[in-house]
Amino acid sequence: MNLILLGAPGAGKGTQSAKISEKYGIPAISTGDILRAAMKAGTELGKQAKSFVDAGQLVPDELVINLIKERMQADDCRNGFILDGFPRSIPQAEALKKMGVRIDAVVSIEVPDEAIVKRMSGRRVCSCGASYHVEYNPPKVADVCDKCGSKLVIRADDAPETVKARLKTYHEQTEPLAGFYDKEGLLIRVKGQEEVSETTALVFKAISKFEA
Ligand code: AP5
Repeated sequence: MNLILLGAPGAGKGTQSAKISEKYGIPAISTGDILRAAMKAGTELGKQAKSFVDAGQLVPDELVINLIKERMQADDCRNGFILDGFPRSIPQAEALKKMGVRIDAVVSIEVPDEAIVKRMSGRRVCSCGASYHVEYNPPKVADVCDKCGSKLVIRADDAPETVKARLKTYHEQTEPLAGFYDKEGLLIRVKGQEEVSETTALVFKAISKFEA
């Protein structure tokens, strides 16, 4: 199953891609996670990406396209994958098409901006990649990761002003991808629900026909 998850920042792409990954045993590839890891490690990619990520802007297409090309050659992508946060612009979608990668479906998780702002203020993340919400998806012990026991933190780009900038970037550059994939007959719209499990049920139903 080869999937793309579309949606505004905080729509729940990371949360749902983790559930799909667990159910189908295929990797969830988040360009945001790869960029944050590169920034933390201080690699050349991380240095080039930092000012864009911190400002809530898109990292230049070329950088992200190259990292995806490399990542998708890994063995674990042979039986399928979930792209979370890529593509995020029309040039990125065109580059993916040019790579000749078959896509089964593009699931767009749709959540109003007001709900996004509320969600982002409550998100807590772990360095192992796990993500929580203080109200909607709390860890068993406050501020401690259920999976690895590390202390949870607030993501640097979840500051309210940066969230506003990310939403603006999303509406200008990423939202047009819904039209792009609709024309290709691949778009499935899913209304993001208040409960994580309810959104998961809708997403699983939408993708069930692509099961191997
Ligand atoms: P990235 O890390 O991809 O961030 P994003 O797209 O802004 O998405 P988020 O990770 O913030 O949110 P999400 O949709 O995964 O939501 P989540 O599941 O965590 O990218 C970061 C930056 O990297 C970008 O700004 C850009 O600079 C750069 N970048 C990345 N990819 C790029 C690309 N292709 N090209 C150029 N630049 C790129 O959920 C959010 C919160 O809500 C959580 O707390 C969660 O617990 C909670 N929640 C989730 N679902 C529900 C629900 N149904 N009800 C209630 N709460 C919920």
